[in-house]
Amino acid sequence: MNDEGKRLDGKVAAEEVVAKVKAETEKLTAESGITPGLAVIIVGEDPASQVYVASKGRKAKECGFHSVQITLSADTPEAEVLGHVQSLNDDPSVHGILVQLPLPGHIDENKVIQTISPDKDVDGFHYINVGKLGTGDLSNAFVPCTPAGSMILLRKALGDDLSGLNAVVIGRSNIVGKPMANLLLAANATVTIAHSRTKNLQDIASQADILVAAVGRPEMVKEDWVKPGATVIDVGINRVDAPERGEGKTRLTGDVDYEGALENAAHATPVPGGVGPMTIALLMANTLTAASRVAGRELPKF
Ligand code: GUN
Repeated sequence: MNDEGKRLDGKVAAEEVVAKVKAETEKLTAESGITPGLAVIIVGEDPASQVYVASKGRKAKECGFHSVQITLSADTPEAEVLGHVQSLNDDPSVHGILVQLPLPGHIDENKVIQTISPDKDVDGFHYINVGKLGTGDLSNAFVPCTPAGSMILLRKALGDDLSGLNAVVIGRSNIVGKPMANLLLAANATVTIAHSRTKNLQDIASQADILVAAVGRPEMVKEDWVKPGATVIDVGINRVDAPERGEGKTRLTGDVDYEGALENAAHATPVPGGVGPMTIALLMANTLTAASRVAGRELPKF
C-alpha cells in the first residue's frame, strides 16, 4: 500500500533532531569550550546489544561528541560494573552514561541504574528522573529516549496539545510504557495503560485516538483494533522468520500490522524506519542537554 501522507517517518525526523544536535554542539563547544561526552557500558556479547551500542558510538561521533565505550565480558562481577559507573560519574569529560540493557543475570540491573548520577542519566531510568517525569517537571528531567522520540512523531501528526484525545498505551515497561503514559498525560491526553493481563484488549485499543504498541508481540495490533482516523505509534522491534526472502532469512516487524492499520489510521509509524531511529537521536539530544546544563546554558528544545 502507498503509505504517503500517512507514514510518520522516523528516519526524516531523526535526521532533523541530529542536525540540530550537531549545530548546537558546535555552538556549545565554540562558546563554552565544553564537548558533550557520552559513555556506553556493554556487558556480555548479546549480538543485538552490540549492534545498538556500536551505532550509538558512531552517532555520538557524528554529532561531534567525545565518545567512550566500555566493553566488559559476560562474567564481569557486579562490583566491577558499579566501579566503572562510579568512575564515569566522577569524570568531567563524560556528561551522559548509558549501561546497555539487558545485563547478565548475576548483575542487579536496578542497582547499576541507581548508581548512575541522575545528572548523567541520559536514559532517564534513575528514580530522580522517573520522579521528575511523573510529577510533570519535564524541563528538569531526562526523559527516556524511546518515549521522547515517539512524542516528537506524535506532535508532527497532532500538534503539541492532545486535549480531548483518548490515548491507549499497550505495555507497562519502565523503559517505554510507563514513561510514554506520563508524557501523554503531560500533553493533556486521557490515558489508559493496557498490558498482557488486560481484558478485552481489542475493545480498549479500538477506542484510542492515539494507540501506542509496546508489547513485543509481532503484529498483534490488527486493522480492526484501530479506530478510523487514529494515530498509531509502533514501538515494537521483533525479528521474525521470512521464508519468502529465502531459507533461514528473517525480517524486522513491529507490534502492529502496518498495512492493516493503515486501512483505518490517519497516521502510523513503520517498522523499521519509525520509532527506532528516533531513540538514538534522542539519546544524542539528552547528552547535549546534560552538557548544556553543566555549561549553565539555555537548553535546546527538541
Ligand atoms: N536496551 C534496550 N533499550 C534500551 C534503552 O533504551 N536503554 C538501555 N540502556 N538499554 C536498552
